[in-house]
Order: sequence, then structure tokens, then C-alpha cells
Amino acid sequence: MSIVSAPIPSVHSIAELRRRVGSWRARGERIGFVPTMGALHEGHFSLVDEARRRADRVVVSVFVNPAQFGPSEDFDKYPRTLEADVEKLASARVDLCFAPSVEDVYPPGFATSVKVGGPAETDLEDRFRPTHFAGVAVVVAKLLNQAAADVAVFGEKDYQQLLIIRRLARDLDISTEIVGAPTLRESDGLAMSSRNIYLSKEERAAAPALYRALTKAARLIGEGEPIGHVMGEAREDVAAAGFAIDYLEARHAETLARIARRQEGPVRLLVAARIGTTRLIDNIAV
Ligand code: PAJ
Repeated sequence: MSIVSAPIPSVHSIAELRRRVGSWRARGERIGFVPTMGALHEGHFSLVDEARRRADRVVVSVFVNPAQFGPSEDFDKYPRTLEADVEKLASARVDLCFAPSVEDVYPPGFATSVKVGGPAETDLEDRFRPTHFAGVAVVVAKLLNQAAADVAVFGEKDYQQLLIIRRLARDLDISTEIVGAPTLRESDGLAMSSRNIYLSKEERAAAPALYRALTKAARLIGEGEPIGHVMGEAREDVAAAGFAIDYLEARHAETLARIARRQEGPVRLLVAARIGTTRLIDNIAV
């Protein structure tokens, strides 16, 4: 027997989003919001579950944001699967899917930028994707304003992004509460990602090496081994699995400042590495 879920409303205009959210709010309901770029996987749905625990209504946005892709990145080939996404959202009992067009989000004459400092300037993703976080910041500021939710959930999977969005919301007095949710992984440890579909069979088999290296390094640092030495070994392990490493570093978990000794603060290990033409990121707490 197949279970058919009732279709959920999918709205494309900002005005219609505001109307629907406004009618819930008028009834005293709490609104939860999960921004995504679609190609939805279980990681996204773990954020939906978290939003559901904290709100009466859950809105998911699906928008592949051109502003956060660099000129040589995968904007054109980024997976777009809106129909399947909306079906999955219905099964997850999401109340509304917001899927605006590029023209709705960036109408002619759009001329505003949002530049975050602090965690956005730490020589991690920002070093390898120099225009990325400006694009994330502007779209997230807009989406948070558009949805006017009580709470929005973002994944620790994109750890630097999460810290930047927290900073942005605080600095711009956006009243939506920003909540971080843990990374959902495949059974072999690979962090779920819309980009995993780019991996060949061989690359997919090698990919869990990232998480293995992170967990091993976190354990050793937790046991008191020197950070510099441990991270050196982790880099060797990741390179031996066939990755070209952009960065693999231990940082302060709250500021992303460089950290030489475990006692300097809560430590987060962050990695970005390329296998074939696919770039993967991951991170864990020590
Ligand atoms: P996207 O990559 O689609 O991710 C949407 C949200 O899902 C982000 O908060 C991300 O951290 C989270 N996520 C991705 N993989 C996850 C996993 N395996 N476990 C838990 N959460 C996971 O991140 C973006 O889109 C965009 O930059 C966006 C914030 C929507 C702005 O355009």
C-alpha cells in the first residue's frame, strides 16, 4: 500500500508568503523556518524536525541563490529537483514551501550588499570562496525578513555559515531566533550533502576518510595530544585517501580563531577537501 500525502501549498511570491505566515501569526501560532537550496535529503529533514519541535508551523524555502556561487562554481549544474522536493516536504508535514524566482529575490535595480566580518573573515571557506558569504548573508537576511519566523534552523554541517548567520542576526537586530542542528551522516560517516550525488563510485567509497580523520583527530586532541602534530597526521590521512585539501584545521568553536592548545577554548575541527571535481566540507567538535 502506498501512502499518498496531501499536497502542501507551494508559494512563489514574497507577498503570498507574508500573507500565509501573517494569518498563522494572527492566530497566535509560532512559525519555524528552514532555508534550503533544495535537492532535499535527510539532513534537511532533520532541520525540519527541529523546527517542528520549536514551532506550530514550518516553512521551508527552496532557492538556489546565484549570489553565493563563484564564477567557476556549480550554480548551473546544482541539482534542481523542486517537484520531488515538494513531495518530500508534504510527507514531512511541512506547512508551506516557499520557492521564489531569482527575479523575485533580486529584482532589477537590486543594489544592496551585506558584508559580515568576524567569523566570515577567518581564512577558512572565505579564503577559497571569497564571494560566497556575502551572497549567503544577503539572501539569508532577505529570507529571514521575508518569512518573519520566530525561529530558523541551520545545520552545523556548514559550521562557518551557522556562526556567520548568528552574527548577522544579532548585528542587524533580526528577531528570529537562530538555532543550530547537528550534522546528519550516512552510515559510513559521510556528511549528507546535496553535492554527494556528484561523486563517482570510487570517490564515494573514499569520501568517509574525511569524517574518519576528523573523529580520530578529535579523540587524540581530547586525550591531550598536541594539536599541531595531530592535525598534521590528519592531513596525511586525508591526502592518502585521494583528497586535495583546501584546509583541515583546529579552530576556536565560537570565534573560529586559530588555536594552538586545547585549553584555549572549545575546539572545532573543520575540513574542506576536493576529490575529483567535487568539493566536500565537514566539521566536528572536540
Ligand atoms: P543547503 O546547502 O541546501 O543547506 C540548507 C540547510 O541544511 C543548511 O542550514 C545546511 O547546513 C543544512 N544541512 C545540509 N546538510 C546537512 C546535514 N547533513 N545535516 C544537517 N543539516 C544539513 O546552506 C544552504 O543551503 C544555503 O547556504 C542557504 C543557507 C539556504 C542560503 O542560500
